[in-house]
Amino acid sequence: MDLGIGGKVAVVTGGGRGIGAETAHTLAREGAKIVVSDIDLAVATQVAGEIVASGGEAIATRCDVCHEGDVMQMVAAATEAFGGVDILVNNAGFNKDRYLTKMSEGEWDSVVDVVLKGAFHCTRAVLPSMMERRWGRIVNIASRAVFGNPGQTNYSTAKMGLIGFTRALALEQAKYGITVNAVAPGFVETELMRANPTYEALRDTALAKIPVGFLGMPEDIASSVAFMASDRARYISGVTLYVTGGRFSS
Ligand SMILES: NC(=O)c1ccc[n+]([C@@H]2O[C@H](COP(=O)([O-])OP(=O)(O)OC[C@H]3O[C@@H](n4cnc5c(N)ncnc54)[C@H](O)[C@@H]3O)[C@@H](O)[C@H]2O)c1
Repeated sequence: MDLGIGGKVAVVTGGGRGIGAETAHTLAREGAKIVVSDIDLAVATQVAGEIVASGGEAIATRCDVCHEGDVMQMVAAATEAFGGVDILVNNAGFNKDRYLTKMSEGEWDSVVDVVLKGAFHCTRAVLPSMMERRWGRIVNIASRAVFGNPGQTNYSTAKMGLIGFTRALALEQAKYGITVNAVAPGFVETELMRANPTYEALRDTALAKIPVGFLGMPEDIASSVAFMASDRARYISGVTLYVTGGRFSS
């Protein structure tokens, strides 16, 4: 199926690694021009280079999604290189797990900020371009953690907030041809997960609870994001697609 996004311009935040990097590659294979944006310029540059080496179009930008100035520069770079933005994937995120009784204000704020303030800044910055073109796709990366994970009150709260953001914005933007959806991954093998000191135990516990019996890979999420970002998904807005191997509860 042709997704109908050839020539569209896609910004992927946190695009230098894991799910974001795979999403950047997948959208590029569909013919989109990619702005690989990451707080870590080196990884963003590597992904953009790989896309260009395989015949696609991409640029890399360093952008901390929590800082409005960085976000404005990212959108300016996208506009200079490709003329505007059609697709935004709000993917940048991380977790800082601790039981609430021991959680610091900094651990709370940093996780809530990267997810919610990041989506706020990036979305607000690209909307004028999408509204002008009367076509746009915003895909927010939520998480199965919205059903609650112990040690993740900050992360579960932020990701649930992102779903509220998705629903409200979908209503605001529908008249401009802009859809807003969320993709909520379950356990996906990425560096984010492998960096966890209890990774092996986490993985084994997760595996036992995933009905399909295997762990998700970045490409499982990337293909769902690509569909939500496509012209084929024009009648879908305000929804959350759970890509969790059938697992919902903790
Ligand atoms: N891996 C999973 O199992 C899983 C499950 C559910 C949801 N998610 C979500 O998917 C998204 C991607 O996760 P991943 O597993 O690929 O993680 P990852 O750590 O492999 O990649 C995240 C990328 O985001 C970048 N980043 C971090 N903070 C940033 C900031 N302030 N501004 C810009 N970029 C920033 C990092 O440099 C990194 O390149 C996150 O939002 C995460 O919460 C992941």
